[in-house]
Amino acid sequence: MGAVTWEEAAAELRGALLDDGLLRAVASGRPDPGIHRAVVRPVVVKRGPALQIVFEDGVRPTTRTLALGEEAVTGVDELLGDGFRNWHVETAGRTVKVQTSKKGKVLLSVGGPVAAPATVAGHDRAKEHLIDPGDPLFDVIGGDARKRRQVDAFLRALDATLPAELPSPLRVVDLGCGNAYLTFAAYRYLSDRVPEIHLTGVDVREDQRDRNSALARQLGFTGLEFVAGTILDATVPGGADLVLALHACDTATDEALARAVGWDAHWILAAPCCHKDLSRQLRASGRTSALTRSGILRERFADVLTDAYRSAILRGRGYAVDVVEFVDSAHTPRNLLLKAVRTGKSDDADLAALSAEWPVTPHLAELLR
Ligand SMILES: C[S@@+](CC[C@H](N)C(=O)[O-])C[C@H]1O[C@@H](n2cnc3c(N)ncnc32)[C@H](O)[C@@H]1O
Repeated sequence: MGAVTWEEAAAELRGALLDDGLLRAVASGRPDPGIHRAVVRPVVVKRGPALQIVFEDGVRPTTRTLALGEEAVTGVDELLGDGFRNWHVETAGRTVKVQTSKKGKVLLSVGGPVAAPATVAGHDRAKEHLIDPGDPLFDVIGGDARKRRQVDAFLRALDATLPAELPSPLRVVDLGCGNAYLTFAAYRYLSDRVPEIHLTGVDVREDQRDRNSALARQLGFTGLEFVAGTILDATVPGGADLVLALHACDTATDEALARAVGWDAHWILAAPCCHKDLSRQLRASGRTSALTRSGILRERFADVLTDAYRSAILRGRGYAVDVVEFVDSAHTPRNLLLKAVRTGKSDDADLAALSAEWPVTPHLAELLR
């Protein structure tokens, strides 16, 4: 980043914000009370292509939609005069970042595009990252490259699951959120898609709640809150449209699924962690077969059986369920993802077949009984 005058930085930002290839822009760090963040993105409305600016003041976001041309030029100039200190603007051709210190020193960097620019054999190459790894968000929440890739892959799966139109406010809960890398990244991603979002991160650890809440304040993520409590008992007023759970340990994934079903969540994405419960039950049953005789096979089979049961139970509760690998196993061996979308059509056939063949008691079935 190099030091420049504000006028030089503003000229660069203006060019990027009015660029035909604008993808999105985030302005933050406004010192005055009131609006603290603005998100700009290109949209197409009835009148034609436009720039949409969502202003967040921590109470109720407001949206301005500016027709391309004179209206957008005036709106962008006003926005540049609004006193935002930090800017992150992505276009198809470049990424422009501006940071202004409290003493007024302005740093500007212009880098390559976040999106993969080339096409391969006539097909558009997918963006390498859903959230730019250089996004200032990561300076605040930390995490290593491996975790970022895992979280990015999870968000990609989320992106592929959600419909184009989302309810607003969108109610989201991340159960067993831990350090909350996914929670923060999901908030960033989803708040670009809906004007209003309420996201709650739940973890049993109070120290995580305190740390994460402080980071959310630092980032100005006013629709994000953290609660300390167990997945089964934590108070989440209003429930959830979307439930996320990334590596909630052992039966905590079952608790997350049960909670999601209880809330009638529209979408559930859960990447399970260790599976001990059914492995214990298979061993205790004394029943042996070629699938369960050796310890390692029994453990692996129990993993598969647990997730097959979870999927079957969710189908019986009116969800369409897909089980996918959301990230390469080189990034995490726990790379399975259960994706459930509520359809309201319940189908018990898989559950009946599994129960006839493997009469164990899955924790999720107990919780939903
Ligand atoms: C392996 S960490 C995963 C954290 C985070 N989702 C991630 O992927 O980085 C599991 C987290 O779940 C929390 N946890 C486990 N069982 C829980 C329960 N029953 N209720 C609430 N939190 C739980 C733990 O405290 C821990 O922070």
